[in-house]
Amino acid sequence: MDSIRTPRFLQQHRIDGTDLAREAAAGLLAPAARVSPKFFYDALGSRLFDAITELDEYYPTRSEAAVFGAHGAAIAGAALAASGPAPVLVDLGAGNCEKAARLFAALAPRRYVAVDISVDFLRQSLQCLQREHPTVEMVGIGLDFSARLELPAGVVDGPAVVFYPGSSIGNFAPDDALRLLRDARRAARGGALVIGVDLVKPVAVLEAAYDDRLGVTAAFNLNLLRHLNRLLGADFDVRLWRHLAFFDAAASRIEMHLEARTAQTVRWPGAERTFAAGERIHTENSYKWAPTDFATMLRDAGFADVRHWSDARGWFAVFVAAAAD
Ligand code: AVI
Repeated sequence: MDSIRTPRFLQQHRIDGTDLAREAAAGLLAPAARVSPKFFYDALGSRLFDAITELDEYYPTRSEAAVFGAHGAAIAGAALAASGPAPVLVDLGAGNCEKAARLFAALAPRRYVAVDISVDFLRQSLQCLQREHPTVEMVGIGLDFSARLELPAGVVDGPAVVFYPGSSIGNFAPDDALRLLRDARRAARGGALVIGVDLVKPVAVLEAAYDDRLGVTAAFNLNLLRHLNRLLGADFDVRLWRHLAFFDAAASRIEMHLEARTAQTVRWPGAERTFAAGERIHTENSYKWAPTDFATMLRDAGFADVRHWSDARGWFAVFVAAAAD
């Protein structure tokens, strides 16, 4: 009889508040102020993001679920054709592990490797999932793969299916996305990549998804200032800022900004920044891809046999590509 396993946890990098504060301050002091979208995700920000995924206007989560609902078997079949049976399943940005868990029946992975910025996000969900799948080996890895995706030695010891759902690849500029895809190809060790990609669509649909009527996305964006207040000891007054989201067709991306409603000076220990009325802090880009361009980028990253499935409206695609060694 197979033994009942317990998940292993590995924290790969130190999460250093001082480094984060330094990074945030450098962005605020840049001539065109900017702050990385990773600063959205404090405890409240993560809850607000979950709320965003339930909004009428925010189609990506539902559209991706529709693609898996209609084509899940074909997607899993294409991934297994590249990896062979019983692959290692590597889940990038795993969070509550829900989306990968839905693939367990079709992929029958022998090991599940959940990667997120902190193992603390993974503990509960992996322990839960382990009870449902007592014989699958489970590993939680705390790793910020946005700069470099390099998994600890031995975790992937054969062809893997690397799973990156949710269209988070859209939050990377094309050069950085290409670098991450190259890393993902290496991590897959001759297996496959399964990745969710948000597609170009009418501007009104895109802009509504990032500026919803309830104001949840506005709260998500403004909450970044509360996070900076805590992290830096800054004195942002969120009431003096406005949420802004628009589609830049030339760059094929939604841009999110915070715009100063009035002239003001924001202070934190050791520094200050004066903002004119109307001046902005750039907080996020969310690139929208044409299927042919994304397929080209996958091939540039060294993938082969690129296929994709979309929802009925053609708003969202799930790509599967073989990670030829
Ligand atoms: C996490 N990421 C894929 C979301 C997106 O759509 O770019 C983040 C987000 N920003 C505003 N709404 C959702």
